[in-house]
Amino acid sequence: MCGIVGCVGLPKAVGVVLDGLASLEYRGYDSAGAAWPEGGRIALVRAAGRVADLRNLLGGRAGLDVETAIGHTRWATHGAPVEKNAHPQVSADGRIAVVHNGIIDNFVKLRGELEDAGIVFNSDTDTEAIANLVAREYAGDLVRAVETALPLLDGTFALGVMAADQPGLVVGARRGSPLAVGIGVGFHLLASDAVPIIPHTRRVVFLGDDQVAVVAPGACEIREKGVPIDWACTEVTWSADAARKGGYDHFMLKEIHEQPIVLENMFRDRLRLPPASDSDPEFIFPEMEFSADYFKGISRIVLLAQGTAYHACMVGRNMIERVARVPTYPEYAADFRYRDPILDPSVLVIAVTQSGETMDTLHAVRLARESGCKVLALVNAVGSSIAREADAVFYLNCGPEIGVASTKAFTAMIAGLYFLALRMGQIRETVDRQEIRRRVNDLLGIGHRLEAVLALDQKIRRIARKYKDAANFLFLGRGTGWPLAMEGALKLKEVSYIHAEGYDAAEMKHGPIALVDENMPVFFIALGGRRYDKIVGNIHEVRARKGRIIALASHGDKAISKIADDVVRIRAESGIMNSICCAVPLQLLAYHVAVLRGSDVDKPKNLAKSVTVE
Ligand code: F6R
Repeated sequence: MCGIVGCVGLPKAVGVVLDGLASLEYRGYDSAGAAWPEGGRIALVRAAGRVADLRNLLGGRAGLDVETAIGHTRWATHGAPVEKNAHPQVSADGRIAVVHNGIIDNFVKLRGELEDAGIVFNSDTDTEAIANLVAREYAGDLVRAVETALPLLDGTFALGVMAADQPGLVVGARRGSPLAVGIGVGFHLLASDAVPIIPHTRRVVFLGDDQVAVVAPGACEIREKGVPIDWACTEVTWSADAARKGGYDHFMLKEIHEQPIVLENMFRDRLRLPPASDSDPEFIFPEMEFSADYFKGISRIVLLAQGTAYHACMVGRNMIERVARVPTYPEYAADFRYRDPILDPSVLVIAVTQSGETMDTLHAVRLARESGCKVLALVNAVGSSIAREADAVFYLNCGPEIGVASTKAFTAMIAGLYFLALRMGQIRETVDRQEIRRRVNDLLGIGHRLEAVLALDQKIRRIARKYKDAANFLFLGRGTGWPLAMEGALKLKEVSYIHAEGYDAAEMKHGPIALVDENMPVFFIALGGRRYDKIVGNIHEVRARKGRIIALASHGDKAISKIADDVVRIRAESGIMNSICCAVPLQLLAYHVAVLRGSDVDKPKNLAKSVTVE
């Protein structure tokens, strides 16, 4: 949460920082600010509201001829989202400016000590204490001052620090919150992730915990424990276009439409299907540095995640248990880590996360590692904290997901978990060659199948128009339809602000049915399979109570039209294909309802894309 950007060595650095902040707004967007050294002072402009408000306030100063600047877009933790609490925060003596992502747990104590020493605070933020600590230590050597202040901080931070009298120098530091350094020719950038860096350079260093980056136009030093260390760049493969809307009205819609290509790419990159039917399909996990033994001797799998990623894990559990026959438990990372879970080295923990920075998932990963478990990460963001801390990584390679509501990462997680399930089944010999080939074949043509589902866009928009004023929504499904129902409800509530619940349809009679009346739209995932008759029974029960029924059903299901008010039809196929394809109408419904209600789809209120606080 919160996005930070720093720039040294590029002309019009304030404008560069501003553009970078705009591309990081999915991390937080309740206030924004920028600072740069100007005539021995810190020039500071901050605005409550969006980066666009900051841009307006800056006016022509965005084009100033300065080469050093830092900036911040905020998701408030300490202090209301008002101008005085926006970052950069400047020390009382005006010499040091700081942008910060994270939370300083001991800031009350630090602030008290500084106040006792006569320092006057002007904000309610924890960050102002950092600026004043650095200023206290500053005697012309900014690196030393930052390195002296850092050990005094408890909590998490990614920082960009600048001194009024040292244009051409920005110091970055991280502990627990992400920070990337863009390596250019004659310039360097600091940012919370690679997105603001890519328009300028694809060469990125992802800082590790307790590392400090010292960037000047022609030099970059990465330091640890006060001494420079060797560093290596990652070459980011996606282009700047991937982080633009590309003609779509919103990132969310663009990312929904990217799913065919994301999933096709995953199959192309991760699967070799030899033509002879008696040879084994080959799964390719180049970033995993382990042998087939990794999956042997596993007594249990724990899938750790939050939010949408947790719903993907619920789908994943069904696939892993069916194919690899290992007991599998999806867990909310936040609850898991505080529950004193029973762990040992025979437990495989799979952390599933788009950002790779979700604080609860990260801490749960650490707990699992300390307990001797194998920890595999299914991650989208390359170089992220969880990718680095796990002992093996499976990258989703979705490209940047900018829309705050996760869409393409969700289906990629399901597909990624399916690949892992198949590979585990292959190694553990719980499925034979023919079965694996059959299951792999089930997924061939996923791109075309998803294109066909996306073609339902206008039909779903019409349904959205009909139900957009509902105050509540229920989503019901069975089997993998249950986590999909939960995901449908989550998507709708986060972007449209309609209260929605997703349930196992079997659970309906145990409570939720009390809510059903003529004002309650109920979205059923009714695609066939073993539980189909039961779902139809549930539809009748809702109908009998005058609920308004929307059904996601198969083309061949003629009978459903008689009991549902609206039907969205897709081609029913194998379980995995259905799980992935069903997600798309749910995403489109949430998107269209939100647009019709006038919500800011890509930046829903109170949310931020990556939840780096607990
Ligand atoms: C919902 C959404 C969130 C995230 C959750 C975990 O649309 O995006 O629920 O899924 O915050 O985030 P990651 O996957 O980054 O760990």
